[in-house]
Amino acid sequence: MCTPTGGVLVHLCRRRPLVPRAAAGIAKHLGAELIPAELRVFSDGESKIRIAKKAGRKCVIVQSTHPPTDSHLMQAMMMAKKCADDGAQVHAVIPYLAYARQDRAFLEGESASVALVARLLEASGVKSVVTVDIHSKMALRAFSSIKNVSSIPLLAGHASKLRLKNAIVVSPDAGGVERAGEFARMLECDMIALKKSRDRATGEVTVEQKIGIDVSGRDAVLVDDMISSGGSIVKAAEVLKKNGAVKIYAMCAHALLIGDAAANIARAGVEGIIATNSIPGKHSTVDLSGTLAEAVRGVL
Ligand code: R5P
Repeated sequence: MCTPTGGVLVHLCRRRPLVPRAAAGIAKHLGAELIPAELRVFSDGESKIRIAKKAGRKCVIVQSTHPPTDSHLMQAMMMAKKCADDGAQVHAVIPYLAYARQDRAFLEGESASVALVARLLEASGVKSVVTVDIHSKMALRAFSSIKNVSSIPLLAGHASKLRLKNAIVVSPDAGGVERAGEFARMLECDMIALKKSRDRATGEVTVEQKIGIDVSGRDAVLVDDMISSGGSIVKAAEVLKKNGAVKIYAMCAHALLIGDAAANIARAGVEGIIATNSIPGKHSTVDLSGTLAEAVRGVL
């Protein structure tokens, strides 16, 4: 049961032990035992977890907090608390960290919910967190110990195999310039950031039609940290198509793809959505487990 690092991984499964690829991969890379935590969800929505085996001296909880967000967060805390109560030093891998967009009060009366998430994890016994492409660097400040790893090298490596013609990397908004810039440097191609604005009350996205660079006849890779409703990618793809781009791919760390997002993105002319397995799903083909294992090794 004990591993070279003394680490044990605990991750969540429903009744059938469907082990997410990322958790299984991390355990394999670390040479750690993988203990699935059993989950029951009652009719009122309450979760109950059971970890049949005691975690070792050190353990790593692996749980993304994609929808149902609050349930997944609660379940992560329940696993951490159980392992901490059993005497383990607990670390958490939360590949997709929900609430990172709520890093400040944007409107009067709002609160920076990510700080609450950080306190709750700490209160559950989590000593450190490893996450991937956190939405906002400011959100990192809420945690006393957090490592934010980049998925860009893996995604760019994937993009380099797409045989893109005269490629251009596109950030759907100004906030993603750093990310898209790193991506473009790896692909050795141009990068532009579109001008996006979002109505804070309705969530409606608009993207300026003029983009300031000739994309006609070129293949474009839209790079974002996450695709949620798909609105940002749809609007960006429409603008790129109008400006003559040929093939468009959408790449992101976190494919939330709520509701009809994937279908709407396809309808907007995007050839493919390529994401990491921070969130399990059809488009989550880029495996993060090696990168996450490396980051975990540094904190164990
Ligand atoms: C925004 O700042 C983010 O980087 C993403 O562009 C955004 O959260 C994506 O959301 P949606 O898919 O709903 O437009």
